[in-house]
Amino acid sequence: MTLKDLAAHVAAEFEKHFGRAPRWIGAAPGRVNVIGEHTDYNDGFVLPMAIERYAVMAADSASVPGKITVHDVHFKETATIEISGAVTKGQPKWSNYIRGVLAGFQNRGVKLPALDIAFMSTVPLGGGLSSSAALEVCTATLIETVTGKIDPVEKALLAQKAEHEFAGVPCGIMDQFISALGREGHLLLLDCRTRKTELVPMSDPTVELLVINTNVKHELGSGEYAKRRAECEEAARIVGVHSLRDATPEQLEKAKGKMSEVVYRRARHVIGEIERTLHAAEAIRESNWPTAGQLMYASHYALRDDYEVSCKELDVVVEIAEDIGYKGGIYGCRMTGGGFGGCCVALVKASAAESITKKIAADYKAKTGIEAAIFASRPAAGATVVKAG
Ligand code: GLA
Repeated sequence: MTLKDLAAHVAAEFEKHFGRAPRWIGAAPGRVNVIGEHTDYNDGFVLPMAIERYAVMAADSASVPGKITVHDVHFKETATIEISGAVTKGQPKWSNYIRGVLAGFQNRGVKLPALDIAFMSTVPLGGGLSSSAALEVCTATLIETVTGKIDPVEKALLAQKAEHEFAGVPCGIMDQFISALGREGHLLLLDCRTRKTELVPMSDPTVELLVINTNVKHELGSGEYAKRRAECEEAARIVGVHSLRDATPEQLEKAKGKMSEVVYRRARHVIGEIERTLHAAEAIRESNWPTAGQLMYASHYALRDDYEVSCKELDVVVEIAEDIGYKGGIYGCRMTGGGFGGCCVALVKASAAESITKKIAADYKAKTGIEAAIFASRPAAGATVVKAG
């Protein structure tokens, strides 16, 4: 569904539920990370793009003061959020992403208006495509439309803080940044230390990115994510650098004897991945797809073997991609996002995208018994105000 169609649908649902037309509509996309995995919280580089899947909110002022009511169009569930005091965590669980953002605006001194909101998202849940960042950035986009614009970098940071404090996931800055700052036709090369961004054009019509959802739910709240973060911090401490961004492969080798084998492998992934990301951005700028593809495979192997955040189903997808190979139109493939399930991303020849989709779907089903969901996406725009009131 295009953003325009989705916004029209949510507006119609708002009208059905609340009995009048919405005054404001805000949207924010999910993302797929092309390369640069588990580098953001190590001050490294990431190279994500926004996808044509969005969280959308349609809203109007509410007649009852002191409350924001959010109706989830898809799950037919309504959250009522008290806003007269400080916004707190509450039920249903998904409302915490919204609550966290509302609390962030309160911390900035914004007096929240009472609102009725209809909400819907086409970002698959638990697919590693940042459905939570899309919801957070969408909420922030709606609130700033009603109460006054904020800087997009501040908005991304506010959304990240919501994820930390209200969802309990100590994520880096990638997901909220790309959702807030993505640009159509471009990948975003983000330096997570300086927060400097560079838009890398990706409009060559001969290539496409396929997102392959293993339909194995990924769950970052389980503690493995936080564990990886701690292991990286430990490695940096032992090497004697502020973060792994500052460590060279030589420094790591020198310090190898002072750390556990696991911590060493975690650091080897991160240091290698930061290098691969810069290299891939260069290859993409030059439309050197074979090189970009090889770097994607290398990223996957390191995530699988050194960082240990892959899973059987993600590995199966990458093996199928390798079997199809360059001759069959695949340049590269890797798991994307936090890991432990979720999606792979494949860089493919556009002319072969359809046959590749069919082949991956059939082979994945045969090998795992699970139906994959596969779609192509062009790099989409970041957060959008569809209706400004
Ligand atoms: C999750 C986090 C991001 C990033 C990725 C791994 O998506 O939210 O900040 O750390 O995992 O690259």
